[in-house]
Amino acid sequence: MCGIVGYLGSKNVKNILIDGLKELEYRGYDSAGIAVLENENFSLFKATGKLVNLEAKAKDFETSSFSMGIGHTRWATHGKPTELNAHPHVGVQTYIVHNGIIENYQEIKKELQEDGVTFISQTDTEVIVHLYEKKLKTIKDPFEAFKATLTELEGAYALLLITKGENSKIFFAKYGSPMIVGANENGEKFFASSDAPLIGHCEGVNYLNDGDYGYVDSDAITLYNKDHHKKDVSLSSLPTNKLSAQKEGFSFFMEKEIYEQHDVVADTLRGRIKNEKVVFEELADTFFDDINEIKICACGTSYHSALASSYLFERYAKVRTSVEIASEFRYKEPLLLKDTLFVVISQSGETADTLETLKMAKAAGLKTLVICNVDNSSMVRLADASILTRAGIEKSVASTKAFATQMVVLWMLALLNAQQRNSISKEELSKQIKTLLKVPATLVVKDELHEKLKRLSKRYLHGHGFFFIGRDVFFPLALEGALKLKEITYLHAEGYPSGEMKHGPIALADPELFTIALLPTNRLYEKTKSNVEELSARDSTICAISSREYDKADDFIKIEQSDHYMLEFFDMMIVVQLLSMEIAVRLGNDVDMPRNLAKSVTVE
Ligand code: AGP
Repeated sequence: MCGIVGYLGSKNVKNILIDGLKELEYRGYDSAGIAVLENENFSLFKATGKLVNLEAKAKDFETSSFSMGIGHTRWATHGKPTELNAHPHVGVQTYIVHNGIIENYQEIKKELQEDGVTFISQTDTEVIVHLYEKKLKTIKDPFEAFKATLTELEGAYALLLITKGENSKIFFAKYGSPMIVGANENGEKFFASSDAPLIGHCEGVNYLNDGDYGYVDSDAITLYNKDHHKKDVSLSSLPTNKLSAQKEGFSFFMEKEIYEQHDVVADTLRGRIKNEKVVFEELADTFFDDINEIKICACGTSYHSALASSYLFERYAKVRTSVEIASEFRYKEPLLLKDTLFVVISQSGETADTLETLKMAKAAGLKTLVICNVDNSSMVRLADASILTRAGIEKSVASTKAFATQMVVLWMLALLNAQQRNSISKEELSKQIKTLLKVPATLVVKDELHEKLKRLSKRYLHGHGFFFIGRDVFFPLALEGALKLKEITYLHAEGYPSGEMKHGPIALADPELFTIALLPTNRLYEKTKSNVEELSARDSTICAISSREYDKADDFIKIEQSDHYMLEFFDMMIVVQLLSMEIAVRLGNDVDMPRNLAKSVTVE
C-alpha cells in the first residue's frame, strides 16, 4: 500500500516529509517523491528504490519560509515502479499524491487525451491532476474545482493536492484509503496515511472518514463530509509508540494483515469487474487463445491457493488444470506442451524453486503468467504477463492477506476464462460475480469470533497432532490451515482430504488427536460430516467449523450462513488464521518471525 505525507508551515518541509515517509516504509514501496511549493515556486524530487535515493536527489534543497509540501511512497498497482510513475504527479501548475485505485481512470484518461492532454505516466493517479486542471479552467475557484474533480472519481483515494493558484492551502480528500490530518499550536498542519509520521508533531489528529474532504491553511482545518456539509473538526490524541503505530495498534503484523484482508481484497477487485464481467487490463483479449490446459506451479501457501483454484478452473472454465509443487516439478522431467498456459503464483516473486519452473516453461516456449504481490520482482520481469494481487506489503512470515488476494485473482481468472470459452451461463456468471463482490464484507473480522478463538486456543496447546480436513476447495484450505499452525506454533499438523482419513490416518484417532473439520453447508456437507463422524466415533477430539450447528463436535466455531461455498471458504480462512495465531500467542512464540523461517525463500 502507498504512503502519503503532507506538511504546511515554516519548518524545513523537506526533512519533515522525508522523515515522515521513513515512518511509512513498513508499508512497503518501490519508489518515492516529494513536491514543495514555496512563494509560488515548485520543487519536485522523485526516485525509484529506497528513500536514500530520494534524499540524495533533494540533498541541496532547502526552504527558508512558509511552504507546503506533499510526499509519497508508491507500491505499484498500475504501471511499473519507475520514476515517471512515482508520485507526486504534476499538471501545469498542480501536484498530487494519491493512495488507492481510481476504477474509472481509463474513461477519464480517454476524455482528457481527446482534449489534448499528454500523459507521461502509466498510472491511474495522473488522471486526477489533469482532470483538476481541466475543471479549474472553467470553474476558476481552486477549491470548487477540487470538489468538482472528486465527484468524477470512482474507486478508492486518499489525496493531497497543492496548486500555484492557491499557495496557502493544501487540499485533501479521503475515500476508501486511510488518511489522517493533524495540527499543533504553531498553526502547522500535517497529513499521513497512518499515525507514525505524526507522532511528536501534532497535539491532535483527525482520522478522516470516507467522503471527507477539505483544505488546511495556517489558520484551520476546513472539513466537509460526503454531503458537502461543513464538519466540526474533532481532534484526538496520538499513540506514543511508533512501532505499535506501524502495527496500527495490533499486537503483530500477522494480526494487522488478517484484519486488513477485507480492505486489500476490495483493492484486488477494484477496476476488475465491469458490467458483471471480469476484466484484467493486464491480459490481452486473446491471452487464452489456443490454450487447452493450465499448469500452475508454486510453493507453500501459494501452492494452496493454486490447488484451490484448480477446482474453480475446471468447474467453471472447463479447462484441464494441474497444480505442482515447484521443487518437485523442477526435477521430474515434466511434459511441457505448447497449448499449456504456465502460471506461477508467488507473494514475493523471488522464491527460487518457483522462479526456476518459470524459466523451464519459458525455455519450452510456453505462454507464462505470474500472479504476484511485488511488482518488478524477478518473476514479474520474466513472465509474459503478470497480475498483481495488490495486498500491500506482507510483513509477517506467515502469509495471510497474500493468500486471500491470490484466491480472489485466481477465481476471477477462472471466470474470465469461462466467459471467453462460453463455458458458463450468464446466470451462473452473474451469481459468481455477485458472490465475489461479497468477499470483502465476509473478511471483516468479527470481535466475538476473535474473542471465542482466543478462549478456545487454550485447549489446543498440546496433543500429538492436528488434522485439518475438508473436501473440494476446502482440502487446500485444510492444507493452508495446517501450514499456518505448523509455521507459528511449531505443533504438528496435517491437512488431509476428509474422504481419505479412512485410508490410514484414522488409525491415529484418539482424544489427543485434534481434528479441525471444515464443514461447508454449500459443498458436500453430508459427505464431509460422515467423515467427521468416523473420527468422532473413535474418540478423536473434533473442532468443527460450520454455519450449521454440529452436535458431535467437542468444539464448534460458527461462521456466517451464506449461499455460496466460496464465502464459507473465506470465512473459514479467517478462523484457521486466527486460531493458529492465538495458539502461537499462548505458546509465547514469535508470531511474525517464527523460528527457522524466512519471508522469501530465495535458495533451493
Ligand atoms: C507461507 O505462510 C510461508 N511463509 C511460505 O510457505 C510461502 O508461502 C512460500 O515460501 C512461498 O512464498 P512465495 O509466495 O513468496 O513464493
